[in-house]
Amino acid sequence: MSGVAEGSILYLDQVSVSFDGFRAINNLSLVLEPGEMRAIIGPNGAGKTTMMDIVTGKTRPDTGDVLFDGSIDLTRLDEAAIANLGIGRKFQKPTVFESHTVEDNVALALKAGRGVFQTLFHRRTPAEQSRIDEILDTIRLTARRSHPAAGLSHGQKQWLEIGMLLAQEPRLLLVDEPAAGMTDAETAETAELLKRIAEKQSVIVVEHDMTFVRQLGVKVTVLHEGSVLAEGSLDAVSANPRVVEVYLGR
Ligand SMILES: Nc1ncnc2c1ncn2[C@@H]1O[C@H](COP(=O)(O)OP(=O)(O)OP(=O)(O)O)[C@@H](O)[C@H]1O
Ligand SMILES: [Mg+2]
Repeated sequence: MSGVAEGSILYLDQVSVSFDGFRAINNLSLVLEPGEMRAIIGPNGAGKTTMMDIVTGKTRPDTGDVLFDGSIDLTRLDEAAIANLGIGRKFQKPTVFESHTVEDNVALALKAGRGVFQTLFHRRTPAEQSRIDEILDTIRLTARRSHPAAGLSHGQKQWLEIGMLLAQEPRLLLVDEPAAGMTDAETAETAELLKRIAEKQSVIVVEHDMTFVRQLGVKVTVLHEGSVLAEGSLDAVSANPRVVEVYLGR
């Protein structure tokens, strides 16, 4: 193992995967430091979602190293084992329990993993309650805690789902297009939310909305045809002629 992997939270080296002969991920290398938030951008089909599929064990790479926490080989683990290690993933479509309150949704997701019946009908421990309060505050839904999730806006449902992920105390959070379908105000709120989360956890965010990426204010990796095309500040990568070319589709 190289010295770079050591001390990193996520380390991808020379990772490739093909679907029916098509190389969706092509010698992809990427290193994320503990506590870092990284934005991943790139045109449609660049391999952004597939990269997350590889990290979470949904897709197995044909070649390459994928290490968590410097030494844990993710390519040998299944999705459940990877989730248990502390890698949480937010999909695009919110999957909250509509008929339950906002607070109960968070309670149901708590790491302790009591059964549904126990969670909903038994008294919570003070530790559980304060964890729930903390998460509701982080996702700015404290005022809506007693309302059914069904009544939340699209953006609020996305935040609730992020809160449910936080309840599982992941060390690394993967978020795919969180701002899709959000209003400008919700998009800005989401950037603030992810910045709060990134104070404690490592985060990878895939997003097409450049206003949102700018609000995050973090290092950006540009993917193209399954490889890293450029890396740096948003200003630096936006000024890179190769990146411009790819986005203009020439
Ligand atoms: N399970 C699969 N089987 C076959 N092809 C796949 C599979 N998953 C992804 N691909 C292909 O791999 C390429 C990369 O897809 P991916 O979804 O990772 O792109 P993306 O960067 O997330 O794009 P978008 O911005 O549109 O979400 C695409 O050409 C896609 O069609
Ligand atoms: Mg995608």
